[in-house]
Amino acid sequence: MSEKWIETRVLENRHWTDALFSLRVEGASLSFRAGQFVRIALDVEGERVARPFSFVNPPEDPVLEFYGIVVPGGPLSPRLEKLAAGDRLYVAPNPAGFLVLSELPQAETLWLVSTGTGIAPFLSILRTEAPWRQFRNVVLVHAVRHARELVYQDLIADLKRQKSLRYVAFVSRESSPGSLAGRIPAAIRDGRLERAAGLALDAAGSQAMLCGNPGMLTDVTAALAERGMRKHRRRAPGQITVESFW
Ligand SMILES: Cc1cc2nc3c(=O)[nH]c(=O)nc-3n(C[C@H](O)[C@H](O)[C@H](O)COP(=O)(O)OP(=O)(O)OC[C@H]3O[C@@H](n4cnc5c(N)ncnc54)[C@H](O)[C@@H]3O)c2cc1C
Ligand SMILES: NC(=O)c1ccc[n+]([C@@H]2O[C@H](COP(=O)([O-])OP(=O)(O)OC[C@H]3O[C@@H](n4cnc5c(N)ncnc54)[C@H](OP(=O)(O)O)[C@@H]3O)[C@@H](O)[C@H]2O)c1
Repeated sequence: MSEKWIETRVLENRHWTDALFSLRVEGASLSFRAGQFVRIALDVEGERVARPFSFVNPPEDPVLEFYGIVVPGGPLSPRLEKLAAGDRLYVAPNPAGFLVLSELPQAETLWLVSTGTGIAPFLSILRTEAPWRQFRNVVLVHAVRHARELVYQDLIADLKRQKSLRYVAFVSRESSPGSLAGRIPAAIRDGRLERAAGLALDAAGSQAMLCGNPGMLTDVTAALAERGMRKHRRRAPGQITVESFW
């Protein structure tokens, strides 16, 4: 069956670095839940090339926002990075995904743990009222290779000020004052992440959502399992919900 694509227009393509970009597009009215993704597409040599992208915007915002990285040689991402205002972008009509707060059991602290572009769905969630109603504490953890990849700092500063968001950044490939060094799993094991957030990360009081690099998802899940936390499933409630970007 042929798919009904929605034709949208690029309003803005913000470049954070040579490889990181945020696309804002208008022309699609989509119903979705914060944390979900949708397939976006371009026509390349006569073929429509589509990939899933998480929404960065909250559901009520009519302008859709996507945050991406150029994967050199990738079929779609280098072309997305080159889009400019007025260009066409196709968006699928059917958002999907289970990285949503309505799936989570009650807990005191919500940990949103991301690498790279995996921060995208958490920014959408943090722009809604739900996390602040559902949890006493909310922690955003973002790990990147280089400090210049710590994006959306204005939004994060507003959330820290207005909503008491706790934010812990990791920079793994250079030293960066104000950020933790190394990788998230090591900092869970040696207690640095809890100290930086000022909160306990444990099965009794925490829900963790993980998004980004599949290696990080595996390694963080293993580190959390050492604390008695396990994957959350509807039929077997736990504390860990994951979404892999590749
Ligand atoms: C549910 C879901 C949501 C996603 N949301 C986003 C998003 O919000 N932003 C985004 O940039 N990507 C996201 N992705 C990845 C995205 O769909 C593409 O894979 C990515 O844009 C690269 O596309 P490509 O066609 O150039 O290369 P692909 O052929 O799709 O990927 C080639 C390789 O690039 C690497 N790669 C893919 N995506 C990433 C990434 N995000 N960061 C680092 N390395 C990567 C992997 O090694 C992958 O095997 C998501 C993927 C899934 C499954
Ligand atoms: N076009 C360009 O100029 C350009 C520039 C940069 C990247 N890229 C492309 O983008 C992709 C990389 O994206 P990305 O920068 O988001 O990279 P990433 O490899 O996902 O790294 C992001 C963060 O996750 C960490 N990480 C990786 N594996 C982990 C694991 N198993 N457990 C815990 N943490 C882990 C990394 O730490 P470590 O540093 O320790 O791995 C880093 O801090 C590559 O495909 C690359 O080719 C392109």
